[in-house]
This record gives sequence, structure tokens and C-alpha cells, in this order.
Amino acid sequence: MLLINQRPEHNQQLVAADAESLGMAGGERAEHYLKARDNHAETPLHALPALAAELGIAALHVKDEGQRLGLGSFKALGGAYAVIRLVLEEASKRLGRDVDVGEIGEPRVREIASGMIFVCATDGNHGRSVAQGAGLVGARSVIFVHAGVSRERVAAIARFGAEIVEVEGGYDHAVREVARVGAERGWKIVSNTSWLGYERVPGLVMQGYTVIVREALRRLAKPPTHIFLQAGVGGFAAAMAGHMAIMLGSRRPKAVVVEPKRSACVYASVQAGRPVSIAHQQPTVMTMLECAEPSLVAWRVLSRVGDAFMTVDEEDAVAVMKRLARPSGHDPAIVSGESGGAGLAGLIRAAGDKPVRATLGLDTRSRVLVINSEGATDPGRYAELVGVAPDEVLMQIA
Ligand SMILES: Cc1ncc(COP(=O)(O)O)c(C=O)c1O
Repeated sequence: MLLINQRPEHNQQLVAADAESLGMAGGERAEHYLKARDNHAETPLHALPALAAELGIAALHVKDEGQRLGLGSFKALGGAYAVIRLVLEEASKRLGRDVDVGEIGEPRVREIASGMIFVCATDGNHGRSVAQGAGLVGARSVIFVHAGVSRERVAAIARFGAEIVEVEGGYDHAVREVARVGAERGWKIVSNTSWLGYERVPGLVMQGYTVIVREALRRLAKPPTHIFLQAGVGGFAAAMAGHMAIMLGSRRPKAVVVEPKRSACVYASVQAGRPVSIAHQQPTVMTMLECAEPSLVAWRVLSRVGDAFMTVDEEDAVAVMKRLARPSGHDPAIVSGESGGAGLAGLIRAAGDKPVRATLGLDTRSRVLVINSEGATDPGRYAELVGVAPDEVLMQIA
């Protein structure tokens, strides 16, 4: 269940391109762009002392991305940010001067944006963000969805005016289709995963995510000792662990990457010692984490600053959703979607397993940070799994 990073590059510095995209200047830029957004608000950082006590650790904090920019997940920070950056770069090139994010509503900038088409593949959340970003700047978006993306999630993307293309197979096939069609038609590919020769834009997407780390570290009295991060293609985990490493240096927390057992491509890559593609298994309830191949950039970062890799079962994910909806003691209730609590599920598994606990150095002095990466992005599915509608849980909080 747990693999310790024994790669030769473990604990080495990030390569220059990754240190740049996940570095301080990049993070500051992402925050600067975010401030230009109408519905920007810092997401809550909740302390859960009762659950921390149950797990035998000093403190547990959950950064709740469920409300981010009205999209319901942290993905709101990545795809939309990359779209805005690419529009402003194009406008700067065409207008022959630096165009700042404050000018995004200017007619000349909007005219340039209106001629741009952004395309991506999605499990649900990334496409929503790209579509929202394109809608904001007045560009077009084309989002490729596979059969595993729920109707509710597809409808949420279409509401931003995106054109939806349905493809067969899973997420990874959709990514390949996007690469093919995007290149053929000259559309701008805004992928959250990266491959050989296509790294810059996914690097920007990850740069957008670094805002989560910045907000959390500003609120915490002391940096965490451990951080449990869920992974699909690994971009999210790499952005969190990478930016933490740059901000905190040797004081960085131990980063544990958590994946569904049914879809653990980063774990398999660590076992193989190189990025590998895994065979499709049964679908996982953690649909946003169902990816067959790690992102190349994420692999490069996680092999340096990812300290351990583990998997969780289907029941673990659902149990976390329920536990956060009906918390212990005076802990706050949190609405966590199917993939949102996988990091916490990893912590709960690790804390309850003596040898794993010892290996990770989890004890009564540990301060753990996890990120609820999505709220109820499919409210119907949430109600089915938790037995209570997300609105009812939110009412407890209000
Ligand atoms: C809610 C949620 N959590 C975690 C992830 C994992 O992110 P990544 O694919 O970058 O590893 C995703 C990806 O779509 C997601 O939507």
C-alpha cells in the first residue's frame, strides 16, 4: 500500500523549467491574475481537532476548494488561468506592448480573444475551468468528454458556452484525440497533462494551482509536517509539493501521493522507475482521479519532492465523504465530492496502520494538511453516496 521514494533524484532540486513554473514569481503572478477575477475569494482552511485526536496527530487542516471561483473545485485555478495567460500573451504580441490582466475587458483584447479557440480533454473539472476562462475573455472553447463523464458534469461545462465533443474510451484517449484534432485545426490545447514536447501550458495550469499553497501557508501558524495529496495525472500533487518545496526548502512537509487502487498510474510509475501507462481496470468512484498515465512534468516534480506513494480503496473515498459531512465533535462539516477527500482517505489509512505510521513519522506531533479538492461537482451522485444532499450539509455550516 505504501511505496517510499527511492529514486536517485529524490530530494534533488527541481529542473529549471519546473522551478520556474512552480516558483515564487509564478505563484505571485497567479495570485495577481486571480485578484482580477470578480468572484475571487480565498477558500477556507478548516481545523479539525476532533478528527486529529482520533487519528493520534497534533493537528489536521483541510483547505476546502469546494467553493473556488464558483466552479466547485481547485481546477478553477488552473485551466482558466492558462487560458487568460495565453490570451494576454497573444494580445501583447499583436499590440506590441505588455497587456496586463486588468485589460482583459478592453475591446481590442476581446477582439483578439474572440478569434482564439481553446480545446482540452476532461474528466469534468478541468474542462469546466477552461470553458469558464474562455467565456470570461470572449474566446471559444471545445471540450472533449468521454463516456465516464456524468451528464451533470457535461451540462455544467456546456453552460459556459463550450462546444462539447463526445469521444469513446477513457480520459487518456480523449487527451490523444485533443492533441490530434487541436494540432490539425490550429486550436490552442490547454491540457492539464503534459507529454514530450508539450510542457509549457500544463506548467501554467499547475502554476495556477500554487495559489492553494500560498493561501494555506499564510493562514497556518506553523508549516505542516505532512501533506497528503490525491493524484490523477499528478499535476495537482506536483504543484502542491513543488511549490511547498520552493517556499519552505528543507522545512518542507513530507508529501504523500494518494491514488485510487483501481487507477494508480503514479504509483505504478514509481514501481517501474519511469512513467508508465496502466491497463484500464474497473471504473473508480473517484472519477476525477481515473487516469492511465502520469503527466510528464508531474512525474519529474514528484520523483524529486514526492516522498511516499500509496493507494486507497473505493470504500475509503466514500467513507471520507460521509465523515466530512457528519463530522466528529465540533469539527466543521465539509462537502467533499468523490475525488475531493482522497488525500484525507490516505491519511486515515496511514494513521491506522502501525508500520505505515512509523515509516511516515506520523505521531502526536504531526501537523497534517490535506486539500478537499472538490465539493459536490455532481450533486446527484453526492446525495446518492452520502445519503444527504450537499445543500443540507451546507446548511449545517451556515
Ligand atoms: C477534484 C479533483 N481532485 C484531484 C484531481 C487530480 O489532479 P491531477 O489530475 O492533476 O492529478 C482532479 C483532476 O481532475 C480533480 O478534479
